[in-house]
Amino acid sequence: MATITDPAPAGSSQDLIAIEGVSKSYFAGGIETQVLFGIDLRVAPGDFLAVMGQSGSGKSTLMNILGCLDQASSGTYRLNGSDTLSLSRSELATIRNRTIGFVFQSFNLIKRMSVAENVALPLIYAGVSRGKAHAKALVELERVGLKDYAKRLPNQLSGGQQQRVAIARALVGDPPLILADEPTGNLDTQTSNEIMRSLQQLNATRGITILLVTHEPDIAAYSKRLVRLKDGHVLYDGAAAEGLRQLALSNDAHFMATGEPA
Ligand SMILES: Nc1ncnc2c1ncn2[C@@H]1O[C@H](COP(=O)(O)OP(=O)(O)OP(=O)(O)O)[C@@H](O)[C@H]1O
Ligand SMILES: [Mg+2]
Repeated sequence: MATITDPAPAGSSQDLIAIEGVSKSYFAGGIETQVLFGIDLRVAPGDFLAVMGQSGSGKSTLMNILGCLDQASSGTYRLNGSDTLSLSRSELATIRNRTIGFVFQSFNLIKRMSVAENVALPLIYAGVSRGKAHAKALVELERVGLKDYAKRLPNQLSGGQQQRVAIARALVGDPPLILADEPTGNLDTQTSNEIMRSLQQLNATRGITILLVTHEPDIAAYSKRLVRLKDGHVLYDGAAAEGLRQLALSNDAHFMATGEPA
């Protein structure tokens, strides 16, 4: 008989994300191109994971599948205990809205809406009253240090401030998970570091699980865990510090052999 002291079995329902054998092919002009090859990935609540890999290695394809914005060609995907392949479109939309906050490289704020209206929008879509949504938006803006900017328009803010607004918007529905595809890709180094410290704080203090894509080892260094993709396969999955050490060594070896940066 199972007791409360039994360890969780491998791939338990406690994983926030569990994908197994996920492959993805695109069809264009009658030609099939396979982009992901049998990816396995488990992410427990509270993890902070960076995905790295060369351009075209499949990072965004993987993130789109994890975000239920696209479907795998084969394999399984359980999100917060639900088998995503067995859900209807509307069920999938509901679980996605409840579970995932998205942060994008280009912020994706609506220009003609105030900062507070942007942050409140996911709640309005979810049927929350305007008053309640606005109040919760102000709470999230305060948490990212931007309450005083609530009435401004997005283009009256710096890039880093706009990305913090986007983070507040991602969190306004209290999802357990943030997915971010190159969230610092449009920001200078100092601002990128500020955004990463904000994400690190959200992970440490609120236990928000974070998966982000980056090209920068300095950005990946804020995470706990690193996954490196190469040509649609997982090349490394483990502690970020060790993964980044291996990456630096392989880049050095490549430079010694070719004189070109990897
Ligand atoms: N909708 C699509 N139709 C056909 N091929 C696609 C599509 N989306 C992506 N691909 C191809 O899949 C491969 C992986 O693309 P993906 O966007 O996942 O790469 P990435 O690792 O995110 O790259 P980058 O670092 O440049 O953002 C690429 O070869 C790309 O051309
Ligand atoms: Mg990409």
